[in-house]
Parts: sequence; C-alpha cells; structure tokens
Amino acid sequence: MAPQEPAWWQREIIYQIYPRSFQDSDGDGVGDLPGIIQRLEYLAETLGVDAIWLSPFYPSPMADFGYDISNYVDVDPLFGTLETFDELVREAHARNLKVIIDFVPNHSSEQHPWFLESRSSRDNAKRDWYTWADAKPDGSTPNNWLGMFGGSAWTWDEATGQYYFHSYLKEEPDLNWRNPEVKEAMFDVMRFWLERGVDGFRIDAVLHIMKDPALRDNPVNPGERIVLGNPPLPEYDAQLHLHDQAHSDIHGIFREMRHLLDSYGEERSRMCIGELDIFEWPTWASYYGAALDELHMPFNFGLLRVPWTAQAVRGVVDALEAALPPEAWPNFVLGNHDVSRIASRVGNAQARVAMMLLLTLRGTPTLYYGDEIGMIDVPITPDQILDPLQQWAPELGRDPARTPMQWDSGPNAQFCLPGATPWLPIAEDYRRVNVAAEREDPRSMLVLTQALIAARRASPALFGGAYRSMDNVPPACLVYVRETKDERRVIALNFSSTDQTVALPELGRGRITMSTVLDRREPVNLAKLHLHPNEGCLVTVALV
Ligand code: GLC
Repeated sequence: MAPQEPAWWQREIIYQIYPRSFQDSDGDGVGDLPGIIQRLEYLAETLGVDAIWLSPFYPSPMADFGYDISNYVDVDPLFGTLETFDELVREAHARNLKVIIDFVPNHSSEQHPWFLESRSSRDNAKRDWYTWADAKPDGSTPNNWLGMFGGSAWTWDEATGQYYFHSYLKEEPDLNWRNPEVKEAMFDVMRFWLERGVDGFRIDAVLHIMKDPALRDNPVNPGERIVLGNPPLPEYDAQLHLHDQAHSDIHGIFREMRHLLDSYGEERSRMCIGELDIFEWPTWASYYGAALDELHMPFNFGLLRVPWTAQAVRGVVDALEAALPPEAWPNFVLGNHDVSRIASRVGNAQARVAMMLLLTLRGTPTLYYGDEIGMIDVPITPDQILDPLQQWAPELGRDPARTPMQWDSGPNAQFCLPGATPWLPIAEDYRRVNVAAEREDPRSMLVLTQALIAARRASPALFGGAYRSMDNVPPACLVYVRETKDERRVIALNFSSTDQTVALPELGRGRITMSTVLDRREPVNLAKLHLHPNEGCLVTVALV
C-alpha cells in the first residue's frame, strides 16, 4: 500500500494566539478578534506559519481568563461578535491559514445557564449535568480529590446541601460526560464551530472529562510523580491521580469525537490536538487510540519540563519516537500560556537553539506567540497579579508569559492605542525586542524563525522525513538526521556556552545552510563540524 500523503496538520506549523494579548483594536487594552484579523498578514506572509490556534474568546466571567465559559457558541463582546469570528475564518482561509479553536469540554463557568439550572434544585433536569455528591456523615468532602489550582476539588452548595466537583477553580464546575445529554450538547458545540468553518480543535484539559464513577479516593503519591500538572503543583502532586481523571472510559469518548470530526469535510481535513500532560510515554501514546482512532495528536509537553541539556532533550525525543504507535504523528511545543517562556527558561542564546530544534524535529511544531521574537517573562508585581493560579501560588503564575505582543517601539508596543492601558504590563525590553525592529535586523530571532520556517516548508526531509539521533557526539551536543530517500539534513545543536566539535565522518560532506547565529553558510565535512558556543547548525548533506 502506498504511504498516505501527509494531512495538513502533519505538514504545517501551528501558531498559538492568546487573544487577550495579541492585538487590541478598540482601545480597551485587551486584544480582540479584529486585532487578530489585522495581523493575519504578518502570520501568513512575514512569519510563514500555516495554522493559528486561538485560546478561548467565548463569553466568560474571566475567572480563568476565558477558560471559564458561560456560552460555548458565541463570542465575548470583549473580543468581537460571531460575525467578526466568521470574518476571521474567511480572512485566514484566504491566506491559506487554518483556524484551530480551543474547545473546553471538561468544565463550564459557574455562570453558564446549565450550571445555574443544575444548582437551582436537586430535582432540576440539569442536576446531573454536573458532578454533585453528598457530604460524608461528618460533613466533609465526598473524597480527597484536589483542585489543580489549590484546595479541595469540592465546593459546598448551601442551597441544595451537596458538594459539586471542579478539577480547577470553584468557578469552573466539571460537566458530567457520563450523562448522554451532556455529551450530545458538547458534540453540538463542536458541530456549531465546524459548520462555521474551523479546521480543528485544541481540546482543553481533555483527560479530566472522565473520572471514577465510584468517586474513590486517590492514593498518596509514594514519591514517584506519575501524572502531574505543569508547572509542578506541590499539593496536587502529593496524590496519584488515578481516580479523578483519565478513567478508561475516556477512550470511548475520544473515538466518538474523532468519528464526529471525520464526518466533516474531506478525509482528515478536521483535526484535534488534546491537552494532556503525561510523563510516561506509553500512556501518552495510548491517546492516539489503538487503531489511531482517537486524538489526532495528544499534545506533547516533553520539551516544556525537560532539563535543558543535550542528553535530556535527546532522551525526550527518542523516548517519544520509540513510544509512538506505527503511523502516529508526533508534535512538539516549547511554550504556551500556562508556562514560563522558553527564552526565560533557557536564556536568549539557547532560545535560538530551541527554535531550531522545534522547527527541525519530526512532528507538528506549535509556536507560542512572541517566542518568535524572543519575548521573555515579564515580572508581575503583587498588585498586578491577575491569574488565579498566581494568586494562590505566586511562583507558578502564568501572567508573566501572557503579556502583550511587542509589535514595534512606539507607545504600548503598538499592541494597543497610545492612551490605552494594556491589561498586563508590556515588557521593558519592547523597544528593542519587537517585530518591526527585528524585521530590519538580519540576525534577529525573528529572521531566524522565518528562515527556519521557510527551510522546513521547502524540505520534505524536514517536514516529513525520518528522524534518528546520533551517538558518539560530545555530551553538550545533540545531533540528529532527518531524511527521505532523496534528501538528508543534519541538525547539530550545541547546548553549551563553549566551543564544541562534532566528528561524524559517516555522515559525509555537505553545506551549512543556516546557523542559529545567522552568520555562516559554508561547505562542511561532518568528520569535523565546529560549533560555536550556543550554536545550532542546519546542514544539507549531499546524497551520493
Ligand atoms: C488548561 C488551560 C489553562 C486553564 C485550565 C483550565 O490547562 O491551558 O489555561 O486554566 O485548562 O481550563
């Protein structure tokens, strides 16, 4: 059987937009959909990505900045209207950009009419749409399950005398996916957006939708952290999350979701990428489905938590490759709206190496907005904290990685109008680190990212070829080969701040077509490839 042509989501590069922080068009200091439309040209033409993923823009009381949804099938006035959304899809598609939206199936806002009904009385028709349980005889919570953002996962409802369950904030009650009406209502939400032309979903907190129906206590974590949040959450990680999430029935739901997606458009034209954070690769890989009939891709967060050394990174990539079911397609990500930015985690010099890694590995890359210009975490003073997680655990806060996009050196970095107050502070370095300035600087992070994207797009070995990592290289270096039968690329990354020499005579000779410093293009013999401190090189090898 001839190998299948790759689907768009296997070939393309996804760019995550946090709508609040991308571009404000109306002067309220919060980014919006018209703002995103204004910037589509940048994404499609300047940067050259192929798909955008929009974090939530739905009506929300914003307790969790939009992940607490009070209407799944509308747009919050802060961001625009359904018409603006339709225009965004049209404009994006006109530029060959796919549109992926966030789907948040696990929980709604406590202000969602479904929950208002559910909590109105014990015999309301929607009571069972959420998870309610009686107190123990001593009045305590039904079990020991914890909320990911701190404290018990159970909140007492005085009026109806029961606890309701929330995996996250108490403002985000979990829907009960065991109730067939809930499942159908949420599938209808997916249908609603598919009909409006979206190309895929990033599915939020996807493992949480199925828990133990008997509500058994989680066991204590004996020390080995098995399933945990990212960043680590000390109280939460003290338990093994065996019963409050990922009940085995979840696979059936994923198969149904997949069936729904497959019934739209041409074959493999609609996709889903599920947010799940799992340490053990075989378990992670199981979410592709035994017959590759569940999630198109489970998000791979391996590079978010790996210690930044060549060997540890190689360990992650090789372990993932080894765990992948045949024909399953990998993916990689360096950052998102929940974790510290890559340039802050590893430093600016290594952020360039990381970008070369992300864009030359086998698997769909997802780029977090601003990482392409080297944005860093912005310090947030205690009085500026907005993120509910940060209010609870300041060191884990997510505000620093969600600050406004830096477009140019003018007032407010052109994220919002000069007189407006941006919802989070703009980085102090914005006069230097911004799109306009970096477009003019031939060695900037932006130019590097553009060049890597262009190189990936042009090379079947890079976007679709096989991957193998090389032994016998200095411990500070990661070297791997990407190849098809017609084409070979070698990527050599120096994770250290000292000079390194890679000696791999078996790979032959070629040409350095790009270095992360953007200062050399030259013939090279891989028997002796010299790497400068913090440098990565992309080498095209002649196949004889
Ligand atoms: C996911 C989101 C995060 C949100 C949480 C609850 O982890 O990425 O931002 O707070 O789900 O919806």
